[in-house]
Amino acid sequence: MPKTTLLPVRIYGDKVLRQIAEPVEKIDDELKQFLKDLVFTMYKRDGVGLAAPQVGVSLRIFVIDPFWSREENKKEPIILINPEIIEKQGEQICEEGCLSVPDIYEKVTRFNKIKVRYQNENGEHFEIDAEEYVADVIQHEYDHLDGVLFVDKLSKIRLIPLKPKLRKLQSTTDENGENIRT
Ligand code: CO
Repeated sequence: MPKTTLLPVRIYGDKVLRQIAEPVEKIDDELKQFLKDLVFTMYKRDGVGLAAPQVGVSLRIFVIDPFWSREENKKEPIILINPEIIEKQGEQICEEGCLSVPDIYEKVTRFNKIKVRYQNENGEHFEIDAEEYVADVIQHEYDHLDGVLFVDKLSKIRLIPLKPKLRKLQSTTDENGENIRT
């Protein structure tokens, strides 16, 4: 059994974060290993969600564990493959951050209640209803699959003071369009 690997996280400026991720066609052993690495990396990086594009893999996959904390360390990861938000309603304001946009925390508007259809790591189909905080986490991760970052949702006025920080993050992008934090 190969062991789990800490995957390097892609940072603001990396082109993979702006791509539309591809649907997963088949769940083979290689993909299952990737899922383990993705989950491992989320916890190691203190995330409550991590999308495949954030580790440079442009596939429609993310993992969440909204209530995980390092202190309690009770792990209940949910892997969502080919997720679709099939119902959405209401509105909420959420304070968000992102492993790919370090040190920036801002309030964004999200739907308050959603219904999500997805496949788990065995390809089985599920539907879940989520609201409030969990709905927020799912919508944030879902956006990553469409090349959208939470800072894109801010008004121009609110983006202005963040510009220097974003420019600094972007400045380490290499000639291949990769911006990897090791
Ligand atoms: Co994010």
